[in-house]
Amino acid sequence: MTEHGFRRVGIVGGGTMGAGIAQVAVQHGMEVTLVEQSDDRAEAGRARVETALDKLVSHGKLAESLRDAAMGRLATTTRYDDLAVSEIVVEAVFEDVTVKQDVARRLVDILPAGSILASNTSSISIDRIADGFSRPEQVIGIHFFNPVPVLPLVEIVIGERTSTATIQRAESFAHQLGKTPIQVRDRPGFVVNRLLIPMINEAALLLGEEVADAHAIDSAMKLGASHPMGPLALADLIGLDVCLSIMDTLAADLDPNRFSPAPLLRELVAGGKLGRKSGQGFFSYDK
Ligand code: NAI
Repeated sequence: MTEHGFRRVGIVGGGTMGAGIAQVAVQHGMEVTLVEQSDDRAEAGRARVETALDKLVSHGKLAESLRDAAMGRLATTTRYDDLAVSEIVVEAVFEDVTVKQDVARRLVDILPAGSILASNTSSISIDRIADGFSRPEQVIGIHFFNPVPVLPLVEIVIGERTSTATIQRAESFAHQLGKTPIQVRDRPGFVVNRLLIPMINEAALLLGEEVADAHAIDSAMKLGASHPMGPLALADLIGLDVCLSIMDTLAADLDPNRFSPAPLLRELVAGGKLGRKSGQGFFSYDK
């Protein structure tokens, strides 16, 4: 980080969230190196960013020259070593503690001493991820929301060993991306998901119990509680596998009775119906 803020950003994982974070970072003038597991996935990550920027251009919200400049700041790779110049690395790989710890372990010897490792985890303890990193004071959560370019909030998740300097740097990074950070302690689900995912789970229970159909449940919350989206459509957007994994974590780490996943949610995930990304969830989508 220079006096002008963050210039070089690493991102590990170029799926829904990693690509969204990459897009926002390159649009804010940062040089981004996106690491993926394979060349194909790296290319898919790049294509996600390009498609999103193209959409902004076609809607008249971004000049073509700015899109080209932003894409010119994005590099994709499969080599972790390419992150050696990063001032911050945001990890956005699968929501699996062993995968995240493995990424942290691989980065220990690569990241420069002053840089920070931020996990975008939705529900895994930052302290557990930091167990894989020999400098846990540099590990923090920066929890973005989907879609990253649209939603202004980030939860800055402070682990037991996170240093004050790391918190300040993470907040500066969030501000530099035009986001509003809130500080939260490292507790399962943090704030937003602790409130939101159990509500989605309850909507799945209502649907499973045939109290109302999916459209009625979503209309109820849109028209009766002023939510911009119904809980089932929102679950499809988040990904039903992500929702289930968060419920499982809340159940395991807080209270299995209060946070037991709805059978219908489990069924849909087991059947590969993951929401928008698979074309089918609580609702159907044209691919
Ligand atoms: P995703 O499944 O769309 O993308 C994950 C990407 O990580 C994949 O492209 C995969 O190839 C890559 N990956 C996995 N292991 C890797 C490794 N070792 N090295 C490099 N790349 C690797 O998942 P999504 O939805 O982007 O979620 C990522 C993280 O963000 C998860 O921790 C999730 O809980 C969190 N999150 C997800 C939100 C959502 O709405 N989808 C919202 C906020 C946080």
